[in-house]
Amino acid sequence: MLPLNPATYVFPDQNMKTKIRHMLHPDIKFVLEIDSICFNSPTSKEELLEYVDTTNVPCKVLVVDDKVVAFHLYKMNPDGIDILKLGVHPDFRRKGYASRLIKEAYRKLTAKRSSLTCVVSEYSDEAIAFLRFLGFRATCVCRKTCEDGSDGYNFSLVLPESVTSQ
Ligand SMILES: CC(C)(COP(=O)(O)OP(=O)(O)OC[C@H]1O[C@@H](n2cnc3c(N)ncnc32)[C@H](O)[C@@H]1OP(=O)(O)O)[C@@H](O)C(=O)NCCC(=O)NCCS
Repeated sequence: MLPLNPATYVFPDQNMKTKIRHMLHPDIKFVLEIDSICFNSPTSKEELLEYVDTTNVPCKVLVVDDKVVAFHLYKMNPDGIDILKLGVHPDFRRKGYASRLIKEAYRKLTAKRSSLTCVVSEYSDEAIAFLRFLGFRATCVCRKTCEDGSDGYNFSLVLPESVTSQ
């Protein structure tokens, strides 16, 4: 078992009364609404259901007072976790909620599955600022990989060597 304390170095300790749980059927419409506000090419209901029917792609929601305000969708690969989508409702941004979701995925890293990665558009200044804030590093440029045909930056956050070598 890995110690979970590396997360406390990477993420600020925030004492928020929120809950992160798997997306349930009644949450779907809220997830799709947030997704459509956050992204130029929103996910369709069919795509979302196809993702979550795949066993290694959980969709988690962050709930505040019974309201779904953020979600993320990530793919568990043998060597790392890919953040496929992460969105926070605009009324609930800059409250640490996206950081909480990333922390949830980060805690699933292991010595073998040791990195979190995320590709964001070169024009997505807020996403880039957010990932840098959490300690992600840009590792490469992915040409024409984004929905609008723009280049993307591949960002990565790797478990410290002190943890992976245990
Ligand atoms: C990017 C996004 C997920 C951030 O969500 P959030 O809940 O507001 O993020 P947090 O509150 O956890 O932000 C943590 C830190 O990241 C940085 N950050 C977040 N949003 C930022 C912005 N718009 N501009 C500059 N820095 C930002 C800040 O340092 C922030 O700390 P602070 O609020 O104390 O200054 C959200 O703006 C969003 O949903 N954007 C549209 C979808 C998207 O781009 N998804 C890709 C995410 S990788």
